[in-house]
Amino acid sequence: MSQLTYDSYLKLGGLLALQEPRSTPPEHDEMLFIVIHQVYELWFKEMLHEVEKVKRDFTGGDLYGAIHTFRRLRTIMKTLVQQLDILETMTPMSFSAFRDRLDTASGFQSYQFREFEFVMGLKRPDMLKYAAGPDAKAALEKRLLAPSVIDHFYDFLAHQGVAIPDELREKPPSSGDRANEAIQRALLRLYTSRPELAILFESMTDLDEGFQEWKYRHVKLVERTIGNKRGTGGSLGVEFLKQSLFRPLFPDLWAIRHEL
Ligand code: HEM
Repeated sequence: MSQLTYDSYLKLGGLLALQEPRSTPPEHDEMLFIVIHQVYELWFKEMLHEVEKVKRDFTGGDLYGAIHTFRRLRTIMKTLVQQLDILETMTPMSFSAFRDRLDTASGFQSYQFREFEFVMGLKRPDMLKYAAGPDAKAALEKRLLAPSVIDHFYDFLAHQGVAIPDELREKPPSSGDRANEAIQRALLRLYTSRPELAILFESMTDLDEGFQEWKYRHVKLVERTIGNKRGTGGSLGVEFLKQSLFRPLFPDLWAIRHEL
């Protein structure tokens, strides 16, 4: 058997053959455009992996495990936000030179991004129709019907003695409507009486804010690069993206801040 090497462990031969610019004559910036999207997809994969652990931590009542993983997720999210700076070094003229070669391809169809939204509880079933291909659609349908991080968070709160209202437990898993006053009252009480739980809630808020920051930075990147043109995915572009700006992952954690 041949010895394991850096290349063979990471399968670099395959990985580095995956960048195939389509522009003719070659547009220099298309390589950056491909690499950055591929890097994002790898990070999305890692984030989904971490979220599975958070779900187990919550249901198992593991506070420190959950804090640790939320901190990691938050740090990845900050890296994702920062990487947009690199893409902003591409001018609108350079992007226009190869944009038509993207046909209808768009980040819109990133099913891992959408899986992340769904698994965090931000379920928008109407997004299923944009899934590109049967595998993407199946992955999203599965996430839509599975309990989200918020459902597992209720398990965690139950470990802390919180009575979870039946109406929340009985909601169909595909429901995207998650704010609840009873949970907000419980969070408020725990925030002020249990400092170790407050650390968890702050870590969750960090990730949430980071996610909203990514959306804001992405929409500004889009606006400066294509202005009010329609998206290659077929949406209105900036106008469409603005609709989900500032939509939190954990609305209950934001609803109580004025009372803390
Ligand atoms: C020049 C750079 C970029 C442009 C012009 C751009 C443009 C757009 C537009 C117009 C949309 C709306 C959907 C559509 O009709 O296509 C969109 C959605 C999206 N893009 Fe980008 N994008 C860029 C870079 C990126 C990067 C680097 C990522 C990283 C993965 C990304 C991920 C997404 C995602 C996930 C959505 C769906 C967002 C949502 O539904 O809230 N985009 N993009």
